[in-house]
Amino acid sequence: NENGTNVNGAGGPEDQRFGTNEGADTLTDRQGHPITDNQNVRTVGNRGPTTLENYHFLEKITHFDRERVPERVVHARGAGAHGYFEAYGKVGDEPVSKYTRAKLFQEAGKQTPVFVRFSTVVGGGHSPETLRDPRGFAIKFYTEDGNWDLVGNNIKIFFIRDPLKFPDMVHSFKPDPVSNLSDPERMFDFLSQTPEATHMVTFIFSPWGIPANYRQMQGSGVNTYKWVNKDGQAVLVKYHFEPKQGIKNLLQKEADAIQATNHNHATQDLYEAIERGEHPEWEMFVQIMSDDEHPELDFDPLDPTKLWDPEKFPFLPVGRLVLNQNPNNYFAETEQVAFGTGVLVDGLDFSDDKLLQGRTFSYSDTQRYRVGTNYLQLPINAPKKHVATNQRDGQMEYSVDMAPGQNPHVNYEPSIIGGLKEAEPNGKEHEPHYDANLVRQKIDRTNDFGQAGQTYRAFDDVERDELISNLVGALSVCRPAIQDKMIEYFTSADPDYGRRVREGLNQAPQAQSHTSTAAADQAVQDAKNMGHETD
Ligand code: HEM
Repeated sequence: NENGTNVNGAGGPEDQRFGTNEGADTLTDRQGHPITDNQNVRTVGNRGPTTLENYHFLEKITHFDRERVPERVVHARGAGAHGYFEAYGKVGDEPVSKYTRAKLFQEAGKQTPVFVRFSTVVGGGHSPETLRDPRGFAIKFYTEDGNWDLVGNNIKIFFIRDPLKFPDMVHSFKPDPVSNLSDPERMFDFLSQTPEATHMVTFIFSPWGIPANYRQMQGSGVNTYKWVNKDGQAVLVKYHFEPKQGIKNLLQKEADAIQATNHNHATQDLYEAIERGEHPEWEMFVQIMSDDEHPELDFDPLDPTKLWDPEKFPFLPVGRLVLNQNPNNYFAETEQVAFGTGVLVDGLDFSDDKLLQGRTFSYSDTQRYRVGTNYLQLPINAPKKHVATNQRDGQMEYSVDMAPGQNPHVNYEPSIIGGLKEAEPNGKEHEPHYDANLVRQKIDRTNDFGQAGQTYRAFDDVERDELISNLVGALSVCRPAIQDKMIEYFTSADPDYGRRVREGLNQAPQAQSHTSTAAADQAVQDAKNMGHETD
């Protein structure tokens, strides 16, 4: 920043270790050695050979060799910004404390700093931002009670409801492992055996699958969570964000035109708007249901493939989210930031949504691998409050999480000789009761097509035409068995939907996918003859 401090807030001219500002712009290595020649490696004579004790050269080149960490397995391409959340102190007309004791929501006007990262899902770190894909909308709230991460998407629902299916789903959406080419046939091979995805497919192949940029799209927590009040009573909640900038989606041909000249348009739009002082803003809403199974509904409130009807479960405003500062460094902040659905604060809780519970294991697991054991000590991930744990050591430990006055010999709890103490609870624990067999079964009220049909009928003509044409384009490379199954699903959603896709395919030239070439079919046959299975 302007003071010359680095992103850790240390190491600049104001850092005590440097004494004065004098010589602060001198190039050094990371040992603090001033570098007198940054142009020539040390060699025997000016024609070489080079010697191996070139500490500066070796340190510089080996650090460069390690500049990349593994990119996120999904949501690799992203853009981030800092800002704040401001609470209304109410949920709709009621005091928010009736439903949750989470401190960040309680007082009107209370501001909590945030970092938000938007992303696409399937493409790699430099893939075009015009691709048809959900968009990630992940928020880290740095609250006084520690961090709360809300890891959401722009679309309010998801493809699947069981986390066991997630790796298969992502493999089918990613490029072919042989050719490294994207292939709609692989994607629809999976989707045609996943009827619960029909609702999400309906959104993604419509213009809602290509938001115009990150500022003009909605956000949603997608999964069902709980709010818990002082008495330990819970309600089910869903979170939503509505952009003050309005919503704008792209037709395929508009996206193609942007992609012809710009692979970064959404990052650029966000960055430049914030630099201009146009700070994007979203209003935050919750939908609330009582914490039970709701047998009166034709779907399960824990099913992330379903919308909650806003007529019955109104959007209740709780605050606003403003983004007003670009990161100082893309890698240190936007790349190393680590969000997870397990990161909740007191007053917020999980529901029994299976997808949510599977996600909750996955995020911190991948981040220990992607960023490292001590990823929570990085400034972008560390809470903006005191941290005192008995966790110690591990790769890249940056500091010891000790409280002032803590006996440094005591890194365990309980202790009577100066260790850390448990906190007092802020209210009664929420203690749901369970009584059921341990099973492997899907939920009872799957209703895979009802809401897909409602969404299809709610689209305007342009959205519906675009949906049909995008689906026909993608399905035309698929073999007939896959086309037939998808049309069966669309017909179950709405007969007009299925009929139009069928008619479109009848008129479309049948293209061939990469996996259905004669050579690929022969490779499968050869592998079978050799007694091998192929993927
Ligand atoms: C990123 C797993 C479903 C939203 C990720 C990452 C993993 C993952 C491993 C990479 C995280 C990292 O490297 O830091 C899963 C699993 C899911 C699932 C196992 C289902 C079982 C969802 C759903 C949503 C979602 C339903 C939307 C509500 C996101 C977002 C990111 C992400 C926004 C990017 C976060 C960032 O910007 O760093 N997910 N995910 N995921 N996921 Fe999921």
